[in-house]
Order: sequence, then C-alpha cells, then structure tokens
Amino acid sequence: MASTTLSPVTPSQLCSSKSGMYSPSQALFLKPMRSSLLLGKDKRMKLTCMATSVPADRVPDMGKRQLMNLLLLGAISLPTAIMVVPYATFFAPPGSGGGSGGTVAKDALGNDVLAEVWLKNHGPGDRTLTQGLKGDPTYLVVENDRTLATYGINAVCTHLGCVVPWNAAENKFICPCHGSQYNNQGRVVRGPAPLSLALAHADIDDGKVVFVPWVETDFRTGDAPWWA
Ligand code: FES
Repeated sequence: MASTTLSPVTPSQLCSSKSGMYSPSQALFLKPMRSSLLLGKDKRMKLTCMATSVPADRVPDMGKRQLMNLLLLGAISLPTAIMVVPYATFFAPPGSGGGSGGTVAKDALGNDVLAEVWLKNHGPGDRTLTQGLKGDPTYLVVENDRTLATYGINAVCTHLGCVVPWNAAENKFICPCHGSQYNNQGRVVRGPAPLSLALAHADIDDGKVVFVPWVETDFRTGDAPWWA
C-alpha cells in the first residue's frame, strides 16, 4: 500500500479519500488546511487532509478520561446484569434451601414438608411420595415407631425409569411397566431392574425434612452407591 508523507503534520490529522481508506479519528476541532496529493501513476487516489489543532486547555486530562470510561462501563454493565441474571437463574434448578447441599422436601401441593405435621397425617409403615433431590419423586418412610426414617427412597425404576408405586398390601414397590419389584426399603428383589432404588438422606432441619445426597455405602447391599 502506498504511504503518504503526512506524518510530520501536527498535532493531528483527518484525511479522507474517495476510497474512504484514510480516516484517523483524532481530529475533533478543526482548523481546516487543505492539501491534496496524488498517489502513484495508476491509482491516482486523491487525498484531502485537514490538519487539526486542539487547544491544550480543551483536552481532557487522564483522570477525567478514566472517570468517563468508568461511567460508560457502569452504564453498560448495570442493564446487562439486570437482563442476564434473571435469564441465567431461569436455567438453575428450583431453590431449595436447607444448607449443606440439601433440598427441602415438597409435598404434592409444593409446600415444604414439616416433619411434625407429616407424622400427624401419616401412620407407621407409610410411604408417600414427595419431591426430592433434583425434583425426583422420593418416598418419605414412616417407621413403625412413628418416626421418620433417616433415608428417602428414589421412586425412579432402575430398569427404564418408570415411577414405582408403593404396594402396601404386598409390602413392596412394584413397577407397573415391566414388573420389577423392590422390598420395603427399595432393594431390588425381582428384575428386570438391575439395581436397587437410589437413596437420599432424610434429615430434619428447623422442623423441615431435607434430602441430602447419599454418598456412603448402601446399607441394604453393602455396596458403594451406584447413583453417587
Ligand atoms: S421400568 Fe420398571 S420394570 Fe421396566
């Protein structure tokens, strides 16, 4: 590309051409000084340049420029954050609370499960579905001494994922899809399901039942938890 001999012109320059290729951005306050030149024999590109002169007292000092940059950054960041944060939270799982990575159990109406209230309405041996970790249907178990079991049973069948209902008469969980059966603690006793139902801790925190991921040995089989 052809070069010009305009660089000595000070303090700054504003050049234009028919091709629009020369456009330094410094000039704001113009004291026009026109000149023209021809570049090469072939290209014959005509440049019109205007030297500029900015009084020293009108050039913002560095502090003001940094302040303006910060104000500009703030003006852009704030509305961006206002738009992005709700959008991002839309994809997060529903809030749970309960601390320590737990999820407060929800009843069929979506209300937090209060242990005391639950035990008033559910008798010994009861297994009723609640909403557990990651929204999975999870059975709360009432022991024979009318206390809540310290574990919940994930109701998702380990065969192909049907929700397994509790059959009180058989004292088992029996899958309606292909007939897999699990005992009253969710241990598989008949296939085709290959594995027992997953477990979650069922803790009580401030009166609410809180499910916490179960990462310890499966007490029903003595094996490592396949779901962890
Ligand atoms: S999905 Fe439960 S037995 Fe097939």
